[in-house]
Amino acid sequence: MTNVTKKQEFAYSQQDFQHVRDILYKKTGIQLADSKDSMVYSRLARRIRELKLTTFAEYLQYLLSHDEEEQHFINSLTTNLTSFFREAHHFPVLKRYLQEMPDTKRIWCAASSTGEEPYSIAMTVAESFGRFDAPIEIIASDIDSKVLQTARDGIYPIERIEGLTQEQKKRYFKKGTGTNAGKVRVVPELAKMVSFTQLNLTSLNWQLPSPIDIIFCRNVMIYFDKETQVRILERMVSLMTKKGIYVAGHSENFAAAEHVVKLLGKTVYKPVKR
Ligand SMILES: C[S@@+](CC[C@H](N)C(=O)[O-])C[C@H]1O[C@@H](n2cnc3c(N)ncnc32)[C@H](O)[C@@H]1O
Repeated sequence: MTNVTKKQEFAYSQQDFQHVRDILYKKTGIQLADSKDSMVYSRLARRIRELKLTTFAEYLQYLLSHDEEEQHFINSLTTNLTSFFREAHHFPVLKRYLQEMPDTKRIWCAASSTGEEPYSIAMTVAESFGRFDAPIEIIASDIDSKVLQTARDGIYPIERIEGLTQEQKKRYFKKGTGTNAGKVRVVPELAKMVSFTQLNLTSLNWQLPSPIDIIFCRNVMIYFDKETQVRILERMVSLMTKKGIYVAGHSENFAAAEHVVKLLGKTVYKPVKR
């Protein structure tokens, strides 16, 4: 272990790390590599400090005896990196799909983190229809309650929208003033296009409206093992329309699940429906 030899604020052993990994895998499907011991330390240390505990072992005891701690534990350990129009080549694909499939009703953004991805989807939908009140439902979900709150608030540091065009900045964001200087907020018309809900992909008992035409599920499957990925894909495909598309992240590859999804183009798949 790289970390335990250093002088640390909280006692932390290899066994604690293993214990954290096991619990996280059980609750979320997330598999942490051996090298993530320092990451686990730094992400949980803040929570241990807040609780005024003194060791990781104490924290793990606390976690197991307080149900409400589970959400804090999960929120601390998820990786939420995202940005507006991340993997930008997917958005023209979405635009084309909407043009070619005028009956599209529903889009699900399945690991929406702090909201940049579903709002990018909403901007693309609004641009395609030339209006905000497009007849398309956009559902965004994540397991992490904290990022969902940020997403619902729709408030971001102004630097987050640097890569957007002047037109997009003007149409979709309002600049904050006073204590909100340096921040932007998505305009209410855009915010209204997206509904956020908490959902654990690995629980497989999601209650979502269906059928779903388009699923954006980017940069989350990489945290799950192949077996879990296939189980999630199967459930997703069962909720999708025959002509739907599944949009994956740049390092996700489902070549081994060809009975469930087939590659259409760069990281875009179609469901295999019988
Ligand atoms: C790296 S972010 C990707 C965000 C966005 N999809 C993108 O590509 O920019 C991964 C997100 O997956 C979420 N996540 C991790 N495990 C999950 C699970 N079991 N169910 C639902 N969401 C999960 C995390 O909370 C995090 O917000």
